[in-house]
Amino acid sequence: MSIILGIESSCDETAAALVTSDRQIMAHALAGQEAAHAPFGGVVPEIAARAHAEILTSLIGNALSEAGISLNSVDAVAATAGPGLIGGVMVGLVTGKALAMALDKPLIAVNHLEGHALSPRLANPELEFPYLLLLASGGHCQILRVEGVNDYRRLATTIDDAAGEAFDKTAKILGLGYPGGPKVETLAQTGDPQAVPLPRPLKGSAEPHFSFAGLKSAVVRAHEEGIHKDEDIAAAFQQAVVDCLEDRLEKAIAEHDPVPHLVVAGGVAANQPIREMLEQMAEKHGMKFTAPPLWLCTDNAAMIGWAGAERFATGLTDSLDFAARPRWPLDPDAAKARGAGVKA
Ligand code: KG4
Ligand code: ZN
Repeated sequence: MSIILGIESSCDETAAALVTSDRQIMAHALAGQEAAHAPFGGVVPEIAARAHAEILTSLIGNALSEAGISLNSVDAVAATAGPGLIGGVMVGLVTGKALAMALDKPLIAVNHLEGHALSPRLANPELEFPYLLLLASGGHCQILRVEGVNDYRRLATTIDDAAGEAFDKTAKILGLGYPGGPKVETLAQTGDPQAVPLPRPLKGSAEPHFSFAGLKSAVVRAHEEGIHKDEDIAAAFQQAVVDCLEDRLEKAIAEHDPVPHLVVAGGVAANQPIREMLEQMAEKHGMKFTAPPLWLCTDNAAMIGWAGAERFATGLTDSLDFAARPRWPLDPDAAKARGAGVKA
């Protein structure tokens, strides 16, 4: 059994966790930066990097004391090395390198997306490769076939905005503040999804990808009309996202080799109506369904520690001169989607 220290700092959560190769989460500590970014309605990179630098070391200390172990018990240090906001990524990666060097233990440079992609295996020991994964977060919306550790086939991605980004923008338009996903979901509970007609971009299209920019513009127009209730706009928007995700996943399931398991990960996986739609889809296709617990869906360090543990177990460690990668696709061989698409 090995103990991995996980470090996450790629966006607006600073986090440290201690995870074992046999799936024990010994400790996880997390500090959000919502208050710092709220006045700006989104994450400000410079503010984020400074906030990570101010708090990361004490979070690692908290995690160690929660686990009741000393740094010397750590077998490897796993830090997010991208993709994400470069300043924040550097803070976590440099800290990870310093600890690895001081302890003379291996460094594992983790792709943040691999953290999300493997997090369902931390939550569910029965989830085996390969599986079909919807990875939907603030920066990404992809359908992946997860073949194994370090082995991903991207079946679809967004040609413009990510699903979480669309939630955040809708929240901003409705004056709900940041971060938007949970706030839109809550408001949508009291709204009528039929009350506001909104488009389903790329639904039914021959290409496999997602698009959410047109939906966001339609939300802006609906709001400007001044005749719709905010809760109806929120409900209609959320339903449109559910429909788009469903349509694109159905296409992926129809067009690729069957896999026994449907899995969702990333911050948007915290959304209850999306989880319900996926659960029903899995049932319809005779697939098992796994969604990690809510706290493991949004950014955290346990998933980075776990991805580190999976890589460590496969002998994948990195050199101390590993450079941070603000852009870092999981499937480097995937053809470019229309538009620019692949956001970091
Ligand atoms: O994975 P994550 O924590 O950070 C990134 O790597 O991007 O995802 C954050 C995204 C945000 O866009 C947030 O609005 C969205 O996930 N999100 C949600 C919900 N909770 C978080 N979107 C919809 N419904 C939610 N309940
Ligand atoms: Zn994330």
